[in-house]
Amino acid sequence: MKAPVVSRQGRVLANVHNVPEYRAAARRVLPRGIFDYVDGGAEDEVTLRHNRDAFDRWGFMPVWGPVTGPDTTTTLLGRTSALPLALSPTGATRLIHPEGELAVARAADVAGVSYGLAGLSTVPMESVADQFPDLDRWFNFGLTSDRGHMKAKLDRCAASGYRALTVNVDIRALGSRERDRRNGLTAPPRLTLSSLIGIAARPRWWVNSLRAEGIRFPNLEASDSNDSMVSPSMWQQILGHSDSSKGWDDLEALRAAWPGRIVLKGCVNPDDIVRAVSIGLDAVQLSNHGGRQLDHMLSPMDLLRESRQRVGNDIELYVDSGIRRGSDIVKALALGADACSIGRAYLYGLAAAGSPGVSRVIEILADELRRTMTLVGVSSVAELKERGSEVLREVGR
Ligand SMILES: Cc1cc2nc3c(=O)[nH]c(=O)nc-3n(C[C@H](O)[C@H](O)[C@H](O)COP(=O)(O)O)c2cc1C
Repeated sequence: MKAPVVSRQGRVLANVHNVPEYRAAARRVLPRGIFDYVDGGAEDEVTLRHNRDAFDRWGFMPVWGPVTGPDTTTTLLGRTSALPLALSPTGATRLIHPEGELAVARAADVAGVSYGLAGLSTVPMESVADQFPDLDRWFNFGLTSDRGHMKAKLDRCAASGYRALTVNVDIRALGSRERDRRNGLTAPPRLTLSSLIGIAARPRWWVNSLRAEGIRFPNLEASDSNDSMVSPSMWQQILGHSDSSKGWDDLEALRAAWPGRIVLKGCVNPDDIVRAVSIGLDAVQLSNHGGRQLDHMLSPMDLLRESRQRVGNDIELYVDSGIRRGSDIVKALALGADACSIGRAYLYGLAAAGSPGVSRVIEILADELRRTMTLVGVSSVAELKERGSEVLREVGR
């Protein structure tokens, strides 16, 4: 007989066995409005649902033969990663857990995978760097036409040792997340009666949030602004993050100004990926922002094979949007991705069990990845990428 686990966190860690179950556990912990902020998508959530179907459309055709390992290590942007997996930037993470981005960074550090800190993160980029100097840190960089301003921001990233910048091309406008609007989680927030009831129904979250420091966005602009979440200037900056005026020349200027790596995030169009190669970017993260921006946008899985065929091995390709299982990672790699990235999966772990919950989600995905690779018949990430077309077929074809 195992001794009973008494703490709530301990019970979650002992009894939750996959990412969908972590989602259910997060739902039990978070107020309705915060859960919806994490879980929801744009408009009718067609893309949000399609992101799962896009993985289910592919099936394995295992090859028989001995398997060793399997070895899940790979190289991303010239650095070894323990898994073909990264943690994507997610804004306002301290809404989900008081330790926020630091809890996520700790789990990424332990797992030996990279973490992209959001521009809208709620801890300063310097704190993550100080506490986790060996973590492979990427920063979600907002393009700006003001070159002086850009330089100040780049200096700040370089001074705190961020190795790569992730630049969005999917936020020309803010996606209309109607769950957030119903819950009053807008910019600035407008708390509705139902959102207040949702908060009252989760007293533990409320107590933890009250004990923690107020939510701020200390990486916005070059400022070390102490503005709180309720100040109008802060919301102007947040809304300013969506900007339809930016184009390829801004990316070229960034390429010229930043000697480190640059990852373009948020496109699925092969023509854009070819263009990213032509201006010397290092990777493209195929993404529809987890279905949070443009509803009815295609999934990375719909265009991944075509994109890889178009660009050959000239650039690294990552896939996010809908990854919930290790088998999803195997499918993406078999179709031409170098790695996958997760957003909600780790946020569910964070909500349910803090940093150990994020670690557990990564372990679950790693375990599923290894088992799937073994059952499919490949011994390493390199072999999976090489023999992908031998082991995967579109279901029904
Ligand atoms: C709550 C939340 C906040 C996010 N904030 C950002 C952000 O600030 N910058 C960004 O590039 N992507 C952001 N994303 C998108 C993720 O980086 C990632 O592309 C997406 O979550 C992948 O889909 P998945 O959640 O199905 O794994 C956010 C996603 C979520 C769920």
